[in-house]
Amino acid sequence: MMDTHCPVAVLISGNGSNLQALIDASSNSNYRIVGVISNKHDAFGLQRAQHADIATHVIDHRLYPDRISFDRDLINKLDELQPRLIVLAGFMRILSSEFVRHFKGHIINIHPSLLPKYPGTNTHQRVLEAGDKEHGVSIHFVTEHLDGGPVIAQAAITIEPDDSADTLQQRVHVEEHRIYPQVVSMFAAGRLEMGEQTALLDDQILPIGGIRL
Ligand code: GRF
Repeated sequence: MMDTHCPVAVLISGNGSNLQALIDASSNSNYRIVGVISNKHDAFGLQRAQHADIATHVIDHRLYPDRISFDRDLINKLDELQPRLIVLAGFMRILSSEFVRHFKGHIINIHPSLLPKYPGTNTHQRVLEAGDKEHGVSIHFVTEHLDGGPVIAQAAITIEPDDSADTLQQRVHVEEHRIYPQVVSMFAAGRLEMGEQTALLDDQILPIGGIRL
């Protein structure tokens, strides 16, 4: 019988707790993870994938002279896997314009801040230093602008007086694991599309911060 599940590839560099959430939710969802690719041999997420009988591939960026040759091998591997969606889950490499254009509208990323606030790294610490009252996570389409593509969904948490960067990271992670499978499932159902500035859900233009989940 034909597999009607949406084929998804997941790119990781490390622990892969978001990958785990996606694996766990997939048994009861409309997508199927057809491969996990890591740029690091020792990424724990590779073990998580193997445990779930998902094919894993390592493409070590250190073996390439430049970003573009690494990205081209990544493109070739993904073209073999033929995913309809590429999910970045803690993938710590900046993707070239060539890569992003090749899979335009079919790449999503999860970022631990309420974008457009705090693109880049160390978001939890920066939020604390700024004295913000609210923090959270964003899932967005990937464009050539780092952490700058149209936001699909966000989940927010209230910052408590005794929060540290560590507790914020833990609390944001809980939200990440809750909403990433939901967004992948929406994409798999054909409900999401990347517009010029914003994402579209069921053909409706979403606000700058996407939907609140
Ligand atoms: C998450 O915090 C995600 O927001 C960021 O990288 C981290 C990955 O964590 N992009 P994990 O590897 O899924 O545990």
